Amino acid sequence: MILSIESSCDDSSIALTRISDSKLLFHKKISQDAEHAVYGGVVPELAARLHAVTLPKILEETQPYFSQIKAIAVTHEPGLSVTLVEGVTMAKALSIALGVPLLGINHLKGHIYSLFIETQTHFPMDVLLVSGGHTQLLHVKSLEHIELLATTMDDSFGESFDKVGKMLGLPYPAGPIIEQHAKKGDAKRFDFTIPLRGSRELAFSYSGLKNQVRLCIEAQEFLDEQTLCDICASFQRVAVAHLMQKIKKAYKERSVERFGVVGGASANLYLRGELEAFCASKKATLHLAKMEFCSDNAAMIGRCAVECFEKGHFVSLEALKISPSSKEMFATQ
Ligand code: KG4
Ligand code: ZN
Repeated sequence: MILSIESSCDDSSIALTRISDSKLLFHKKISQDAEHAVYGGVVPELAARLHAVTLPKILEETQPYFSQIKAIAVTHEPGLSVTLVEGVTMAKALSIALGVPLLGINHLKGHIYSLFIETQTHFPMDVLLVSGGHTQLLHVKSLEHIELLATTMDDSFGESFDKVGKMLGLPYPAGPIIEQHAKKGDAKRFDFTIPLRGSRELAFSYSGLKNQVRLCIEAQEFLDEQTLCDICASFQRVAVAHLMQKIKKAYKERSVERFGVVGGASANLYLRGELEAFCASKKATLHLAKMEFCSDNAAMIGRCAVECFEKGHFVSLEALKISPSSKEMFATQ
């Protein structure tokens, strides 16, 4: 089996994945949401200190399996440098102690493989990655060949939910809370403009929408519960409408058979509904990760690692380095 470690942001997670059939044998994740909530976002130094406490705690539970471990996989890019270091240092120490090779896993590829936990891969597949750090539309041919079709010019989709949430006084991460409030709100009450509506460019942008919401909040004399829900619903409608407009544009002249959505924000049911309708119109199959594997976790890293293991993509102690950004990872068209 492969032991995988994830510490790219504020989730400490370790998994054990069987190499022969990708079965997930152990998976544990400890989130730091409560610790960061008071700051309205992730504090990197605090996240790193918490990983140093929680990762060894989870690792202890995997000790009975140590003799069966054939490789150590770890997220080494992209992410917060101080938190990536925690996982990578632990991985290197384990690799030395157990005498097994190392695999460095790209976090975004990990998200793509969240679609294939305990199942076979299905490539080629087009994938929308919506997380706190990324908003990307990808054409995935294989583990190594990923084409970037569109990306964000500024804030990411999940980040815009977190920032709007902060303006509304909601705790971090605000994505799921905004979605809940939106269910009770009138999505048509506030007529925010859909970003890049008139633009021919295949790109995403969320900073303008965030500012529209800020001005709307400032214009309210009193932010009662119903108005808060109406703002959440109107914002969510426009944020998703923007994604959908650009996705439809991307596939106007491009065929698509399989479409996947991954990343923390892919748990959003309103977004899932819109993507279902889009896939039905294109006669494409929509692939979704299980809810528990949408946000950051080591199970997806382990699944991607099985693929890397089979291809012999091992990396030496010296060569395994962290890389906070990996924009160059995916070739543009
Ligand atoms: O993938 P992830 O766990 O971490 C990163 O790699 O960034 O994604 C976390 C992001 C946060 O911005 C969070 O607010 C957002 O995903 N998110 C959501 C929902 N659940 C999580 N955004 C919108 N609706 C949701 N239901
Ligand atoms: Zn992530």
